[in-house]
Amino acid sequence: MSNKRKILATSALPYANGSLHLGHLLEHIQTDIWVRFQRLRGHEAYYVCADDAHGTPIMLKAQQMGITPEEMVDQVQKEHMADFADFLIEFDNYHSTHSDENKTLAELIYNRLNDAGHIKSKVIEQLFDPEKEMFLPDRFVKGTCPKCKAVDQYGDSCDACGATYSPTELITPQSSVSGATPILKESEHFFFQLPHFSDMLQTWLRSGALQEQMANKLQEWFEEGLQAWDISRDAPYFGFQIPGTENKYFYVWLDAPIGYMGSFKNMCDKKGLDFDTYWAKDSDAEVYHFIGKDIIYFHSLFWPAMLEGAGFRKPTAINAHGFLTVNGTKMSKSKGTFVKARTYLDHLQPEYLRYYFAAKLTSRVDDLDLNLEDFSQRVNSDLVGKFVNIASRCAGFISKQFDGKLSDSIIDQALADEFVAAGDKIAELYETREYGKAIREIMALADKANVFIADEEPWVLAKAEETKERAHQVCSLGINLFKILAVYLKPVLPALTAKVESFLNIELQWSDHAVLLQGHAIEKFKPLMQRIEPKKIEAMVEASKEDLAAQQAAAAPETELSKDPISEEIEYPDFAKVDLRIAKIAKAEHVEGADKLLKLQLDIGGETRQVFAGIKSAYSPEQLEGKLTVMVANLKPRKMRFGMSEGMVLAAGPGGEDLWILNPEDGAQPGMRVK
Ligand code: MSP
Ligand code: ZN
Repeated sequence: MSNKRKILATSALPYANGSLHLGHLLEHIQTDIWVRFQRLRGHEAYYVCADDAHGTPIMLKAQQMGITPEEMVDQVQKEHMADFADFLIEFDNYHSTHSDENKTLAELIYNRLNDAGHIKSKVIEQLFDPEKEMFLPDRFVKGTCPKCKAVDQYGDSCDACGATYSPTELITPQSSVSGATPILKESEHFFFQLPHFSDMLQTWLRSGALQEQMANKLQEWFEEGLQAWDISRDAPYFGFQIPGTENKYFYVWLDAPIGYMGSFKNMCDKKGLDFDTYWAKDSDAEVYHFIGKDIIYFHSLFWPAMLEGAGFRKPTAINAHGFLTVNGTKMSKSKGTFVKARTYLDHLQPEYLRYYFAAKLTSRVDDLDLNLEDFSQRVNSDLVGKFVNIASRCAGFISKQFDGKLSDSIIDQALADEFVAAGDKIAELYETREYGKAIREIMALADKANVFIADEEPWVLAKAEETKERAHQVCSLGINLFKILAVYLKPVLPALTAKVESFLNIELQWSDHAVLLQGHAIEKFKPLMQRIEPKKIEAMVEASKEDLAAQQAAAAPETELSKDPISEEIEYPDFAKVDLRIAKIAKAEHVEGADKLLKLQLDIGGETRQVFAGIKSAYSPEQLEGKLTVMVANLKPRKMRFGMSEGMVLAAGPGGEDLWILNPEDGAQPGMRVK
């Protein structure tokens, strides 16, 4: 076949320091469906991925666990691979960025960029932990916000006032690794000269390689001006040493995308394939990266520039997707909607989720919501109620009354033709990643098949001798229509369609959608899919909450859910000084320009206080108005960027959306003392 395409697809490489969750699965299911579709069409399509093994968080996590980073990333990789396999994600290769292939390729690319003058070095000043003797990434420094003086803020931004700054601006900074006070220290860093590729990127951006939403986002970045990119880190670091240096390592994001090539190279060596066919500058193969919207910058600016500068081909397209939400909001550990891949698999079939994601996926970068009620309803009604139902209504008669053989003729050719003809459109929709639309087409056909069977009533026809042959023909066409739909659903539901293939005694390729089975022997029908029982979903949500409890108990210092140690003891008089009052939230509003703050007017009985509270991640203003809460009424007023804050409200929880203001029962009166 001369129009056989050569395709390589990848999903982003998951970090090797944690379990996979349903958000990761959205991406891998999207990619897997696309690759399975391409293979079904007869193209040569490969799907590779790997674990992203390098970087400071991984190094420190392994230290905490008392094992080497190599041991940790090995363990995590095994877990990831088992999870993916059980979700029926069919990789041609799953590797690690901590591999020989990746090291060789990272060095090659770096050396070529360096030789061509695209790497420059510069001495910069950074915070350094004198106890641990390491430079500190921004997230590993905490201190007092230079703008609003809120304590315990990260090195890059303040949760209280929303300011962003450099970690060197923090007041009383502290290393999260050792607790020591960091010092400023100079160090030489290497910078990749991204602006050298400005013209190339401008053209590439409009070449069709990017979705419209992404191209627009990139345009904004261009307008802000491209910056040179710091690609080196000092020892100690878990990564690859930079050639020609003693103690410098590649920043994890340099060798991460090269990991796509590293995994592919490892596969080529195992399968005897030619690496250059896919990656040489003049390659006519196609390369696609499926990624989430949070890592667009790396994939659409740095990565193509690195490839261009090192003499390799650029990706054919970057396919970005949005984020997964559950029941309309960010996945939440306390609500039990932050579901790990394994927790899902302990309770539910992988194909339910594959189908649901497919039914909702588009080619756009929009977020996708997993609504757990809609999930069971949709899967049960579409897959069990519509699709499987066609076969279960027809198969029995064929086995029992017609020797398991389909009829020799087609009773309604026009209906069959309509099912066959839909194939082109459905293929086009899969190709362009409009899976939701493809599923809609397929389910509309399933409805038609069910109407045809219901109208003909084969169960009535089969009873009388003179109409028995018609029953045979109706059920045979029913089975043929079912077979066509099975072809269309095969990329999404590989296990279900494997059962259909055994039932029909046939292996299904895409071209089989146009072949009608006549006089063909089929096997006895066995149930193909069980309905989702809502109590299984409840159990999964409960178990996800248990995960959380276990995690909190074993909390690692750097996770956001770690329990703070109990603070230094205070004397009773210190406590007595704190004037806690019941306050009624008279008004709550958004603050323009603040990501985390809400502006509250608190009524404490005859007096109103204005307070800025960092609780926007957990509450909307409407939820708060009229509620009672507790405030510290004698806190010295502070001037914040947005105005005066005259007190503080009390809240509990680790932060983010998991934050609860204290909410005394009705009957408490504004102004009452709390003691
Ligand atoms: N290691 C980097 C990727 C390097 S690729 C050269 C990374 N890892 S990650 O584990 O944080 O994320 C892996 C992928 O999962 C990313 O594409 C990310 O967008 C995606 N997702 C992580 N959480 C997600 C959701 N909640 N929803 C959808 N996708 C999500 O980034
Ligand atoms: Zn601040």
